[in-house]
Amino acid sequence: MNKNNITWHNVLVSGEEREKLHGHKGAVVWFTGLSASGKSTVAHIVEKELFSRGCSTYVFDGDNVRHGLCSDLAFSAADRTENIRRIGEMVKLFVDAGIIVLAAFISPFRKDRDRIRSLFKEGIFFEVYMNCPAEICSKRDKKGIYEKAKAGIIKEFTGISSPYEPPLSPELVIDSAETGADEAAGKVKLLLEQGKII
Ligand code: ADX
Repeated sequence: MNKNNITWHNVLVSGEEREKLHGHKGAVVWFTGLSASGKSTVAHIVEKELFSRGCSTYVFDGDNVRHGLCSDLAFSAADRTENIRRIGEMVKLFVDAGIIVLAAFISPFRKDRDRIRSLFKEGIFFEVYMNCPAEICSKRDKKGIYEKAKAGIIKEFTGISSPYEPPLSPELVIDSAETGADEAAGKVKLLLEQGKII
């Protein structure tokens, strides 16, 4: 693609003005972990509580985004990388608009998550690792996908037949096998308070 004829259009509304309007900073909480580790459940509880406090929030999760924006992608390593790249760019636009984004994607590869982190300025990207063994995720799984993955019906399934690389220094680790969803959501809110986002 020829980028020579594309110029960045300057905005007339500043980040500070948006912050004032929303009453908080734009930020992203990036939940990573195996399927059924609790990412989306916790993201939605956090959103509900922040929303009821008057915050501008939005949740993105793998199952939803893969119905639209990323419906052309499957689960090869290259497709997952492209999935996370597109989502990262989309999340960046939401954060620029002043929204607190709760993003819940397996995002199994460290380099892909680190690339997303590099899109944001210091202090507004919070990586939350939902640490839960595959056997427990498999027991919790309501969609029956772990059974299909074990039977080889679903190929390249994270934690069974495709790798997951845990974060090396996430902002928060939630041992979601032992931590209830409400307690986990409380820890995420605390993170946002301590980071002076809300
Ligand atoms: S990611 O690896 O590219 O980050 P994403 O979070 O978008 O994955 O999508 C994960 C969801 O897709 C899972 O919760 C599960 O419901 C579904 N899924 C279908 N096939 C697979 C697979 N091979 N590996 C992992 N998840 C899968």
